[in-house]
Amino acid sequence: MKKGPLIAVLKERAPGETRVAATPETVRKLTALGASLAVESGAGAHAFMSDAEYEAEGAKTGPAADVLRDADIVLGVQGPDPALLSGVRSGAWIVAALDPFGQREQVDAYAKAGLEALAMEFMPRITRAQSMDILSSQSNLSGYKAVLACAQEFGRAFPMMMTAAGTITAARCFIMGVGVAGLQAIATARRLGAQVSATDVRSATKEQIQSLGAKPIFVEDVAGIEGEGSGGYASEMSEEYQSAQAELVSRHISKQNIVITTALIPGKPAPRLVSDAQIATMRPGSVIFDMAVPQGGNVEGSVADQVVERHGVKIMGYSNAPAHLPADASGLFARNIFNFLSAFWDAEQGKPVLDEEIGDAIRLTKDGTVVNKRLLG
Ligand code: NAI
Repeated sequence: MKKGPLIAVLKERAPGETRVAATPETVRKLTALGASLAVESGAGAHAFMSDAEYEAEGAKTGPAADVLRDADIVLGVQGPDPALLSGVRSGAWIVAALDPFGQREQVDAYAKAGLEALAMEFMPRITRAQSMDILSSQSNLSGYKAVLACAQEFGRAFPMMMTAAGTITAARCFIMGVGVAGLQAIATARRLGAQVSATDVRSATKEQIQSLGAKPIFVEDVAGIEGEGSGGYASEMSEEYQSAQAELVSRHISKQNIVITTALIPGKPAPRLVSDAQIATMRPGSVIFDMAVPQGGNVEGSVADQVVERHGVKIMGYSNAPAHLPADASGLFARNIFNFLSAFWDAEQGKPVLDEEIGDAIRLTKDGTVVNKRLLG
C-alpha cells in the first residue's frame, strides 16, 4: 500500500462549538485505509473524547502547529481560520462545513492560500451521498433537541396523565417545516405523548406526517401547492400561497402549546412564518422554538440563544443546535466525513480522488481561485 495522506483534525475555535470532526472510531477507520492521523490536543474534550482515546487508535496528538505541519487533509466541523494553516501542504484539502455564503471572505482566503476547500454542506442530495450528508445528520439531532428544550421551558407536561388527583391533558405541539429536523421533532414530540400537528409547503410531506401519527395542516386549492424546488428542497411560494398559509396558521396556532419552526429555503433567508400578532393569540405559558434562528428566523422576535418572552409566550432558538448534543453530533458528523473520504479512496494512489458529480458540487476553491458555480453564479 502506498503511504497515505496525513490527515489533521483541529480543535474547534468558534464560540459555543462543542463538536469535533473525527472520533476515535473514525481515526481507526481512516488509519486502516492507510492514512496517518494527527489530532490537536483537546480537540474532542467537549464531546467527551480524550487525547488518550485518539492515541489508542493510532493518532498523534499535539499543538495545532505540529498537527498541521505537512498535512494533506484538514478536517473541521466549521472552517478553520486560514491564518492557522500556513504549515499545510500546498493544495491541501480543507473538509468542513464552510458556510460558503456566510463566510465568503474565509473562502477567498483559502483560495489565496492555494488550498482546496470542500464544503460538506454542498453535498448533493443523491442516494449515494446520503451517508455523507452532514445537513441531515445534524438536523435530525437538532429536531430532537428542540423538542426537549421546549419541554424544559414548558410549565406543563407533554403526555396526557390520568391520576387520582385528576387528568392532565396532552400538550398540543405544531411543527412547521417537515424536512429532516421537522420529522424528528414530530417523532420526538409523539414519543413524549404530545398531540402533534405539522405543516410544510411540500405536499409530499403530508403522508410522512400521517405515518408518524401526526395531523397534517395544509393549504389547499392554491396554485403552487407542490412547493417542491430542486433536489427535494422547498421553493419560494407565491403571494397568494403565503397569505393563505398565514391565515391557516393564524387559525391553528392560537390553540397550540408548543410551536417548533424549521422552515428553510436554500440560499435565501428563512421564510417568516409566525408574526408577533399571531403570538399574541397564543395562551400564556406556550413555547415557540425557532430552529431557523441562525438563518434569520421563522418567528418574529426570536433571538439566538435567548428565551424571549412576548405576550406571555416564551420564544427560543439555538445558534448551533447540534452543539447541544456534542457526543452524538460529533459521532455522526465524523462518520459523514469518513464515509465521504472512504467512498473516494483510490487504492492505487493511496488517497481519496473525487469524481466530477460530487467534486464539482462541494469544491469551493482550487489552484488559487474560487471555482464553485454557486459562488460564482
Ligand atoms: P430544509 O432544512 O431545507 O427545510 C426544512 C423544511 O422547511 C422543508 O421540508 C421545507 O419544505 C420546509 N419549508 C420551506 N419553506 C416553508 C414554508 N414557507 N412553510 C412551511 N414549510 C416550509 O429541508 P431538509 O430537512 O434539508 O430536507 C429537504 C428535503 O430533502 C426533504 O424532502 C428530505 O427528505 C430531502 N433529503 C434528501 C436527502 C438525500 O436524498 N440525500 C438527504 C436529506 C434530505
